[in-house]
Amino acid sequence: MGVASLERSSVTPKDLTITPRDRRFGREDRTPRWWHGGNPCLSAFFNCLSATFPKGEAFFVDSVRQYRDQADERLAGEIRAFTTQEVIHSREHLAFNRRAADAGYDLARLEKKVEERLALTRSKPPIVSLAATMALEHFTAILAHELLKNPRHLAGADRASGDLWRWHAVEEIEHKGVAYDTWLAATRDWSRYRRWKVKAMVMLYVTRNFVVDRTAGALELLRQDGITGLRAWLPLMWVMWGRPGLMRKIFANWAKFFLPGFHPWNEDDRALIAGWDSEYDYLKEPPAKRVRTAG
Ligand SMILES: [Fe+2]
Ligand SMILES: [Fe+2]
Repeated sequence: MGVASLERSSVTPKDLTITPRDRRFGREDRTPRWWHGGNPCLSAFFNCLSATFPKGEAFFVDSVRQYRDQADERLAGEIRAFTTQEVIHSREHLAFNRRAADAGYDLARLEKKVEERLALTRSKPPIVSLAATMALEHFTAILAHELLKNPRHLAGADRASGDLWRWHAVEEIEHKGVAYDTWLAATRDWSRYRRWKVKAMVMLYVTRNFVVDRTAGALELLRQDGITGLRAWLPLMWVMWGRPGLMRKIFANWAKFFLPGFHPWNEDDRALIAGWDSEYDYLKEPPAKRVRTAG
């Protein structure tokens, strides 16, 4: 496929850079069991999210790379940077998950559920995996946006854990268009209606699974804390959907996915990243660590 023949219908900013920030978090100290401000529900919800990342991000990378021959030069560079970022995220979340295990949690049931979901998706044609990745990457990007925009969500987290989640959020925003642009390239011969229908159906399916599985996973971790029944349910629902209400806060951005003309970069939220970069000064890292994707 000639690169020149591909027309780029994406609105990804021309001056976007995707920068893998090879950092390590929390290796020195033990993480408290209820690291999120002593709140078992918030700790359970984030632990449960983290349990999905190592397997989930490997799946995202595989799904996108299956279509890298469809990508133009610029997107191919973005796919490489996205891959590097996701691989480092998985390393750090594996370490975070080990600290949760050291604090006494058994994540095996949660990880098994993730594997089952991924195995089912992998058994379908590769475009289904790419569509699922595109939908879940939108999910992670809007979670990331909300986490960075509203410090309330990580207020009370221990320093290393809070930094880990903010660092991950920064890079999820940065590469939020990669799976979407790969999907646009892979389905460029499809009708608009077919694209929209598949994308909408897959989003509804992964959203249903996300809400059901993350709720069940958090309840399982609370059960391991000895908190069950309504004593688990009510406060968990409150932190997810009430206050700080991460799930409630992402709803409007989630719904935008279904609008005609949606693209993750219709909202350029790099200002949220800029604040973080100036705080941590990654730009002093060796140039080899920085992957420039601008055309
Ligand atoms: Fe990630
Ligand atoms: Fe991602």
